[in-house]
Amino acid sequence: MALMEMHHVAPVIRVRNVHKSFQNSNKMFKALTDVSLDILPGQIVGLIGASGSGKSTMLRHLAGLTTADLTDNSVTVLGRNVQSAGVIDRNIRTTRANIGFIFQQFNIVNRLSVLSNVLVGSLGRIPSWRGTAGWFTTAERMQALESLARVDMENFALQKASTLSGGQQQRVAIARALMQGAEVILADEPIASLDPISARNVMEILARINREDGRTVVVSLHQVDFALRYCERIVALKRGVVVFDGSSAAITSEMLHDIYGEKFSETCMEEKTFTSNQSICIPLEGTGMRAPESAGAMVS
Ligand SMILES: Nc1ncnc2c1ncn2[C@@H]1O[C@H](COP(=O)(O)OP(=O)(O)OP(=O)(O)O)[C@@H](O)[C@H]1O
Ligand SMILES: [Mg+2]
Repeated sequence: MALMEMHHVAPVIRVRNVHKSFQNSNKMFKALTDVSLDILPGQIVGLIGASGSGKSTMLRHLAGLTTADLTDNSVTVLGRNVQSAGVIDRNIRTTRANIGFIFQQFNIVNRLSVLSNVLVGSLGRIPSWRGTAGWFTTAERMQALESLARVDMENFALQKASTLSGGQQQRVAIARALMQGAEVILADEPIASLDPISARNVMEILARINREDGRTVVVSLHQVDFALRYCERIVALKRGVVVFDGSSAAITSEMLHDIYGEKFSETCMEEKTFTSNQSICIPLEGTGMRAPESAGAMVS
């Protein structure tokens, strides 16, 4: 996209001045403080930050699954109001139909077949009686198979979902979001429960649907190396405050130390490969992953 054009592109996700407080045993706790963001169509954004920094809370606000404090704030997605001043929009269902939400724990229906799990993605746009009766058209079944093919799972269509590995289940969850026709995909630590190979596989699929379809992806990740490798833009939260928002190429290890504090070493596989002015992250053994070029030389 030409730079000139960029200024005229309406953000697909627009967050303004969001504050979120929780009442924890009579004490108010601020989970998000004055968060504002614009995410442009087709971006893939990595949401990073230590445990408890507010990543899940942030993503839940974007989907209208949590309300912000009753201050002057707003969240819009695809030009539609999700919530403003702490009140969820009355037409949130319409907006949510365009938002795919991928969870760490896969969220697929174990007793159903893989294909049926994907067909669930169409429930937002077909009459509810058809969904209840499990009556899907041939075209819908074909589309579900195509969605499965995009995540390399078409050969599992008739298998019961409970028999799949975690990585396979997560791919089915992505196929369901494709079936749903989600223009925006929010993924909350989609790879946290996966082994490195499956994790890479799932991230590659998310990156591919972002690149090929232009779907906007916001993905929270514990592993910084995955975020830097797959996301062009990083938003970092620290105790509910956005402390970095920019190109992943601009992230330095000093910044990561600041973002994660003492927990920094937990965010990568091998701490010993970090030095303050050298590589940020290391290749994951056996996965063929590389740290981004901009991160500088890698330490062997
Ligand atoms: N429903 C809730 N009630 C009270 N406090 C909450 C609630 N949900 C989240 N919090 C608090 O808000 C803060 C942010 O939580 P959140 O789950 O968004 O963090 P996170 O960055 O996703 O962490 P993790 O990496 O562990 O998933 C935490 O301190 C958490 O305890
Ligand atoms: Mg979380």
